[in-house]
Order: sequence, then C-alpha cells, then structure tokens
Amino acid sequence: MTVPGGPPRLRLGVNIDHVATVRNARGGDHPDPVRAAEIVASVGGDGITAHLREDRRHIRDDDIARIQAATDLPLNFEMAATEEMVAFALKHRPHAACIVPERREERTTEGGLDAAGQHNRLAPIITRLGEAGIRVSLFIAPEARQIEAAIRLGAPVVELHTGEYAHATGAARAVELKRIADMAALAARNGIEPHAGHGLTYDNVQPIAAIPQLAELNIGHYLIGEAIFTGLADAVRRMRELMDLAR
Ligand code: PXP
Repeated sequence: MTVPGGPPRLRLGVNIDHVATVRNARGGDHPDPVRAAEIVASVGGDGITAHLREDRRHIRDDDIARIQAATDLPLNFEMAATEEMVAFALKHRPHAACIVPERREERTTEGGLDAAGQHNRLAPIITRLGEAGIRVSLFIAPEARQIEAAIRLGAPVVELHTGEYAHATGAARAVELKRIADMAALAARNGIEPHAGHGLTYDNVQPIAAIPQLAELNIGHYLIGEAIFTGLADAVRRMRELMDLAR
C-alpha cells in the first residue's frame, strides 16, 4: 500500500525471456512467453520486460507483437544500441525501451551500459526513440559518472544494475546497497526516474525495494525458476508481497 506523501508505489516488471529459453530448447511453441505475460497480467504485475537479443537465443521477433497484443501491460523492450534494434523498436512502439549492453558470448547482461563512454553513439538513438514516444531507459552500473552521462543524454529513466549487489555477501553487500541507494537518489534529484534490476530474488529484494526513489524493479530469471516449482502466478504474487512489505 502506498502511504500518502510516502514513496511512489514500486512497480514490478516481469522479465519473461527465460520462458522462451525453455521453449527454444526444443525449438517448438511450448512454453509460450505470451501465456506467461497473460499470467503476469492476471496477478497484478505492472509490466512485461522482454529482451530481443541479437542472436535470438530466447525471445524471437514475433514474440514481441504477440506479447503486445495479448495484454494491456506496458512492454519494456530491452535492446542493444544497434540500428537493427532501433528499427525494430520504432516499428513496434513499446511503452519503454531499455538500452542494454550486449556481447554475443555472455550468458546474460553482465555489466551496465557504458553511457559515459558512448555519448555520441547513444545520443541520436535516445532522441529517435524519444521522438517516437518510447520511454528510454539506460541500464547502467550504479556509478555517479554513468548517472551524469544519463543526465547529459536526457534519458528519462535509468535502470540501476543490481548484479554486484546480488552477488556480494556480508559487508560487501551493504556497500553495494548503499551505492544503489545513493545513485537512485542522485538520479531522482536530477529528474531521472530510477529503476533497478538483475539477480533479484525473494532473499535479496527487500533492501532494494526499500529504497524510496526507486519506481520499478525488473525481475526475471529467479521468478521463472521459482515458477517451475510453485507456478508463475504464485511466484509473482510472492515477490509482490515481499516488495510491498519492504516499502
Ligand atoms: N533488467 C535488465 C536491464 C536486464 O537485462 C535483465 C536480465 O538480464 C533484468 C533486469 C532481469 O534480471 P534477472 O533475470 O537476473 O532477474
């Protein structure tokens, strides 16, 4: 529940990529990420996140339009900063586009986007997507130089990479948590809406959910993994409950 005058409600975006990973293991149509999107919608998820990777290892081109047609939830389209993906986003007009770094050999999106080092490459992409009415988000490490780059680029949203936090233990985790909290506050002070995601689980989500400036968490792998044991509806509800309790 959102307290009047308190932090905004924290949205939960569910990344359904790995439903497609399982589907693609056999090359057929099952399990269908569209059905996952429908379940997320039915239990009060706030958005669907899907990453069309260059190698199409999970989400395929036709999944995007099918997901958009299946639910009214906003689609957060994760994409590399390539001409192919910009053209795809302009054609499909998702609610949001989250620009992520992409290296073909990595297993997942392991680090943040170097917004600071790629200003000239990113600036026209952010402008084109923004002019098409797509809300652009930059998936960046929780570092001041990356937030400052996002400010210079005029990005309306940053998604802070929580991977280092998720992997850290003990005192190191507290350090990572503070970095994320400080960078969420820095972004918000500069008019940028901070989101967060990567590696979040039932066990580690609550300190992140308690950061008052955060407006959205995007969570995928763990929820899809838990869905194998308890079902996707139950997993999304449980994550939602933990987030609400922390807020
Ligand atoms: N946010 C972004 C930008 C991502 O690329 C991903 C997937 O790597 C996630 C959130 C979700 O991460 P996870 O699957 O570890 O929950």
